[in-house]
Amino acid sequence: MTVVTTLQDLHSLYRRRVPRMFYDYTQSGSWTEQTFRDNTTDFAQIRLRQRVAVDMSDRSTASTMAGRDVSMPVALAPVGLTGMQHADGEIKAARAAEAFGVPFTLSTMSICSIEDVAEHTTKPFWFQLYVMKDEDFVARILQRARDAGCDTLVLTLDLQVLGQRHKDLKNGLSAPPKLTLPTMINLATKWRWGLGMLGTKRRFFGNIVGHAKGVSDASSLMSWTAEQFDLQLDWAKVARLKEQWGGRLVLKGILDAEDAKMAAKVGADAIVVSNHGGRQLDGAVSAIRMLPDIMDAVGDDVEVHLDSGIRSGQDVLKALALGARGTYLGRGYIYGLGAMGEAGVRKALEIVHKELDTTMALCGERHVHDLGPHNLIVPGGFRASHIPG
Ligand code: GLV
Repeated sequence: MTVVTTLQDLHSLYRRRVPRMFYDYTQSGSWTEQTFRDNTTDFAQIRLRQRVAVDMSDRSTASTMAGRDVSMPVALAPVGLTGMQHADGEIKAARAAEAFGVPFTLSTMSICSIEDVAEHTTKPFWFQLYVMKDEDFVARILQRARDAGCDTLVLTLDLQVLGQRHKDLKNGLSAPPKLTLPTMINLATKWRWGLGMLGTKRRFFGNIVGHAKGVSDASSLMSWTAEQFDLQLDWAKVARLKEQWGGRLVLKGILDAEDAKMAAKVGADAIVVSNHGGRQLDGAVSAIRMLPDIMDAVGDDVEVHLDSGIRSGQDVLKALALGARGTYLGRGYIYGLGAMGEAGVRKALEIVHKELDTTMALCGERHVHDLGPHNLIVPGGFRASHIPG
């Protein structure tokens, strides 16, 4: 049995235990996957400044994200189909996050419903929304999230059309999986996953099935995004949704200083600098490379978070040092979930926390709030900039 010390160890177990179709879903970027790769290789270009003979006792990673106390500034990102990575996956991940003291964000595209997760947790979780054409559906799902005690809405702005991920099309991605011969052959080797799935009734898009009208194939993420998502979403609608929700609002999918200014103007409580993990506009710049420009544009006006490319506590530290108040772990916790269920998500969080805490010490820092550009060595020309028009 492998001694698990890194997210990569969890990834290896995840790869062995979860059906190919769902593994490929999280391991994909769109089209050529350039942005997907850049998200991680750009983090690797940033080096850390080692400091010595400074007091490194009594360290703390505690902070706040969008007004919530967190044991470290790392929320679990919304990830679609999490309940296909492991039976009752969203419930398991939410429970692990709650025990660790970090926010769990439930995706609209989850398998377990909002109500399922609320029933199995004790503290408010965050709810992520995609804006759909059906305004009644949107009103109802916001009410369901309120009734379930969700205190923060994460509104995703960068997926009104789905970026093409070749593997998902080739695999015929669906929830539950359609039993084609290649899928059945693959499933036959995933007995642990299969046993879990036989033991749960949660195998469909729990927030959608029975709630949304006019979806021709409710098992296909591709078809219901194409049919349901509102292509007319604009800032006026974002402002209306803010009013309609009435609680804390986090705007996710900001990758441009101009959009960041609009998000701040709308009155978001936080923005998430993100390219959707390289799953949407391939060729877009990595989130970490964009962060300094966005900090310059709105850093004094709105809380800034970063998602896309975080694979370790060191990445968290780099994002915080460049100004982010919080970060999101998506694939990293899915590795843990697919590998070992709830215990695996806890393990992923422990690994990231230890990496963050130890790196802070070796950089001569005692508190996440003291991190800054002085902790980094960033290569010349790292910052993203576009050619002014
Ligand atoms: C949904 O959020 C996806 O990226 O598939």
